[in-house]
Amino acid sequence: MHQSREFDIIIWGASGFTGRLVALYLFDKYGTNGDLKWAMGGRNLTKLEKVRDEVANKNVPLVIADSNDKVSLLNMVNRTKVICTTVGPYAKYGSNLVETCIKSHIHYCDLAGEVQWMYKMINRHHEAAKVNGSKIVHTCGFDSIPSDMGVYFIQREAKAKRGSIAQKIKMRVAAISGGISGGTYASLSRVLEEAQKDKMVYKILTNPYGLNPIDEQVGKDKSDLRSVIFDKASQSWIGPFIMASINTKVVRRSNVLSSYAYGKSFRYDEATIFGKGFLGRIKGILSFIPIGLIMSAKHGSLLKKGLDILFPSPGEGPTKQKMEKGFYKLRFYITLADGSNAFAKVTGDMDPGYGSSSKMLAESAVCLAKDKLSNISGVLTPSVAMGDALLKRLEKNAGLTFSFKY
Ligand SMILES: NC(=O)c1ccc[n+]([C@@H]2O[C@H](COP(=O)([O-])OP(=O)(O)OC[C@H]3O[C@@H](n4cnc5c(N)ncnc54)[C@H](OP(=O)(O)O)[C@@H]3O)[C@@H](O)[C@H]2O)c1
Repeated sequence: MHQSREFDIIIWGASGFTGRLVALYLFDKYGTNGDLKWAMGGRNLTKLEKVRDEVANKNVPLVIADSNDKVSLLNMVNRTKVICTTVGPYAKYGSNLVETCIKSHIHYCDLAGEVQWMYKMINRHHEAAKVNGSKIVHTCGFDSIPSDMGVYFIQREAKAKRGSIAQKIKMRVAAISGGISGGTYASLSRVLEEAQKDKMVYKILTNPYGLNPIDEQVGKDKSDLRSVIFDKASQSWIGPFIMASINTKVVRRSNVLSSYAYGKSFRYDEATIFGKGFLGRIKGILSFIPIGLIMSAKHGSLLKKGLDILFPSPGEGPTKQKMEKGFYKLRFYITLADGSNAFAKVTGDMDPGYGSSSKMLAESAVCLAKDKLSNISGVLTPSVAMGDALLKRLEKNAGLTFSFKY
């Protein structure tokens, strides 16, 4: 990586809802006179100046680049060691940037949860990124850091404390509180629109191993849960978890990229806990309604137009108070290779989508820029790209906790 670049990190998309939170976090945590050299990036100088006045001060340099202008992207990328981007939907605005980062031999991280786009980036750029020494790391937010780093942590602890790897892990969302931004809704809409139009996209989204290399898309895992059932592991009624279709694929890709460090017969699934007894079952069934509506709303239909009015527009998102009051608690029910059981927890201290995701993304960027990491490169997952170094940062700075009980 280039040691002589002007910046360690450019946060591109700093004028957007999430990018602004990342900039605010970097300013509060790392300031402008310290060891970390960082800048705010975007396409509109006036807007960037306004946001900078609100979240930082004039010592933070501004960099202008537009996703449609490749020259401006290259000029931006050539000034930094790491690009941290919140310019989404990534399928719409992100492809040229990934290519440019690899050309410039630098690292990259984002908050993408758009599986169909990540699939494209892997196919187009994994080999080139490997050759050029670039770490391209998608999913550095709530999808999929708590899951991916949670499993990485469990495997590390299981080996150290029980002398055995985990063969089966069931992640259950025990509690969650937060909101949604216009950018995320736009990204989700785009994924669904592409899946409705293109059978290949639908196939990638529904393939449990869809982010693995083509010749390694085999294993015992089935599709993500789509109904409400009673779960023996948590002794509760469980139902679908909306992020499972991203997270489970990322965890499985981590296994492949780490030369099957979790074993070839490793199994992983995710679901949401709705509680015990009749009430738990009803809660599960009711929670299906909004998910079902979003999934079935066809592009251009009246239902879709209605949902577009209900959800926030790009640039909008949950209030500060809602983010601060937010949290999440994830439980992991583990079966070790020797047949015994273990249990782990991951928690986060703010709303998952924005308060917590912006801290996770910012710490990923700092980790890529500053920490001593393995030489692995390519289109990677957070755990494979950053491993223990990121785990330390998440616990120390980003409000996450990881615990393993045996
Ligand atoms: N995975 C997770 O956990 C997670 C969590 C949060 C967000 N996200 C994702 O993060 C992305 C951003 O979400 P958000 O709510 O922050 O969105 P947003 O508020 O709409 O912000 C989008 C940003 O992209 C910029 N932009 C738009 N078109 C551009 C172009 N052609 N060239 C350069 N910049 C351009 C916008 O600039 P202007 O201000 O000039 O319009 C803005 O800064 C979404 O894809 C969302 O799904 C993921």
